[in-house]
Amino acid sequence: MPDRPDSLDTLLDANRRWAADMESRKPGFFTRLARQQSPRYMWIGCADSRVPANEITGLDPGEVFVHRNVANVVVHSDLNALSTIQFAVEHLKVEHIMVVGHYGCAGVRAAMRGLRVGLADNWLRHVQDVRLRHRKRIEHLPPAQQEDVLCEMNVIEQVGNVALSTVMQDAWSRGQKVSIHGWVYGLKDGLLKDLGVTMQGPGEVVEVFARALKRYPRAAAAALAAADEDDDPGHGAP
Ligand code: CO
Repeated sequence: MPDRPDSLDTLLDANRRWAADMESRKPGFFTRLARQQSPRYMWIGCADSRVPANEITGLDPGEVFVHRNVANVVVHSDLNALSTIQFAVEHLKVEHIMVVGHYGCAGVRAAMRGLRVGLADNWLRHVQDVRLRHRKRIEHLPPAQQEDVLCEMNVIEQVGNVALSTVMQDAWSRGQKVSIHGWVYGLKDGLLKDLGVTMQGPGEVVEVFARALKRYPRAAAAALAAADEDDDPGHGAP
């Protein structure tokens, strides 16, 4: 049998050390997990190697159910994502689903700049749709800020898509307690930011969405707000 490449031996060695360390810190850990998983959380994130769900939230194996794809998109006809969400909600009974984007996302950048990257162009069309839908809230910003805002808006849109899925609508109509959250992760500081778009039931979707959008004013509203801030107090801006 040919030798395995050195780099893979390194990984397999690291795995043996990790498993031994885990078992010594938590005796019976793997035996318990092998019988059953009961995560409270589901993570829908970008496939980017720099955003590993467990590590950045300090969670062990068994604690978070994960679905990742390019640019953390939830499409109404994507049976892969929908099946994963259904399994998480109906069988594992997760209590929280977090859609997690990240600043500096290459998929979002390609969608923002209209770059062609290959097959993924068709997938990223969904992110371009988000950009087009909200272009008046995005295009007046400086380029670097546009990409950050699109990262956030993409998360907000995907939170809405999860909420409007039949899986979530059915779960909520059964009275199941499961909420959806929108977060964005900073590659530069390793910190997660809550975008404040938590949805806990079907009646909240429209209101949460509308409230979130207000944080991204259109050009005219942004200019007014800036003028307000610049005004000398006492000179009474209109
Ligand atoms: Co990404």
